[in-house]
Amino acid sequence: MDKIRLGIIGTGGMGQGHAQMQENIEETELTAVCDVDEALVKQVAEKYGVPGFTCHEELLDSGLVDAVLIATPHYFHPPIAIEAMRRGIHVLSEKPIAVTVKAADEMIRTAQETGVKFAVMFQRRTARSSRLARKAIEEGLVGEVYRTHLLMSSYRSQAYYDSAAWRGTWTGEGGGVLINQAPHPIDIFTWLAGMPARVTAQVRTRRHEIEVEDEAFALLEYPNGAHGYLYVSVNEAPGTSRLEICGDRGKVVLQGDEVQVYRLKQPLSEFTVTSDQMWASPEAELVELVVPEMPPGHATITRNFARAILYEEPLIAPGEEGIHSLELTNALILSGKRGKTVELPLDREEYETLLEELKASSRPKQRLREQRATDPNVVGG
Ligand SMILES: NC(=O)c1ccc[n+]([C@@H]2O[C@H](COP(=O)([O-])OP(=O)(O)OC[C@H]3O[C@@H](n4cnc5c(N)ncnc54)[C@H](O)[C@@H]3O)[C@@H](O)[C@H]2O)c1
Repeated sequence: MDKIRLGIIGTGGMGQGHAQMQENIEETELTAVCDVDEALVKQVAEKYGVPGFTCHEELLDSGLVDAVLIATPHYFHPPIAIEAMRRGIHVLSEKPIAVTVKAADEMIRTAQETGVKFAVMFQRRTARSSRLARKAIEEGLVGEVYRTHLLMSSYRSQAYYDSAAWRGTWTGEGGGVLINQAPHPIDIFTWLAGMPARVTAQVRTRRHEIEVEDEAFALLEYPNGAHGYLYVSVNEAPGTSRLEICGDRGKVVLQGDEVQVYRLKQPLSEFTVTSDQMWASPEAELVELVVPEMPPGHATITRNFARAILYEEPLIAPGEEGIHSLELTNALILSGKRGKTVELPLDREEYETLLEELKASSRPKQRLREQRATDPNVVGG
């Protein structure tokens, strides 16, 4: 078996989780790690018996890696990815691929110019429920979409935000729930429903002492006149995760790890005008779809990335698709901060201007109690 020599850049919570997962991926071999925190990278390098670097350029120039997995804070994803790509090194970026669509455009352009593989860690695409929902859409079971809905309420403590200087700040993180937790469900949402044409949002900081939003909600309008509602937060326990795509011919409902696909025996548009029954409604049947077996989680994305390099296997989460959720979240922040409806595709320069203003308002953290711990829900995945 050929193996991809993989370097991990950023060995904090998630980077260490990825390092641990490499042991179970036969197509990759961890050959180097990098972190700006010297003591941390030494400890991780010793644990895995690989060289450790404190500068990503040294890792990229070491000749030790064919590919890198970037698990640094968000702002560093584009510059590190672009430097890797220009050296012919393949890139798997943690989500979000960037903080702004302008930076993401440059990553995508560089990947196309250099011809390297570029993927994004959207592991929810590997979940059976997400793949079944996607299949239902691809097979046209929903028909023309007329309504969408995304609800993702989750929870983060203040200790989570206090655990690193970058978290919860405009200069370090570049957004809150929209840029850190919501990219996963928003990726699935846009993968299924496509992109809206305009959004009207509110972004709020309700429960945490942070600069960025911990809650956002929005009305979405699609090019065909369909509409949607989106709510994301890190303020609720237990969390709820629900996604609905409703169309003329059927409906997809994703709730947690469960999916239901309904097919109407007669399209809504037809039934509404042809039925002579006062209290009738179109009959709906549950459809059983089948997708190939696939272990869900991060390791499957990394394995698929390696197999794309080795055998041209199609990427489950191509890097260029990482821009969809980012573009929507940038639009929601712009709409909420400027108090106006925002059109998509997003005006790149308008968002850069807003982010510069927000960064200028950023202040060094008063509360900091450093911790680097991998989310126990992701280990092994
Ligand atoms: N896919 C997922 O399920 C998932 C889960 C958690 C985090 N993440 C993502 O992983 C990334 C890291 O998050 P985390 O929770 O591990 O953060 P963390 O703070 O625990 O770790 C980040 C590490 O990057 C290091 N770092 C900072 N700048 C660097 C640079 N220029 N070069 C090398 N190292 C650098 C820091 O010293 C730190 O050790 C983020 O993009 C986050 O959104 C993804």
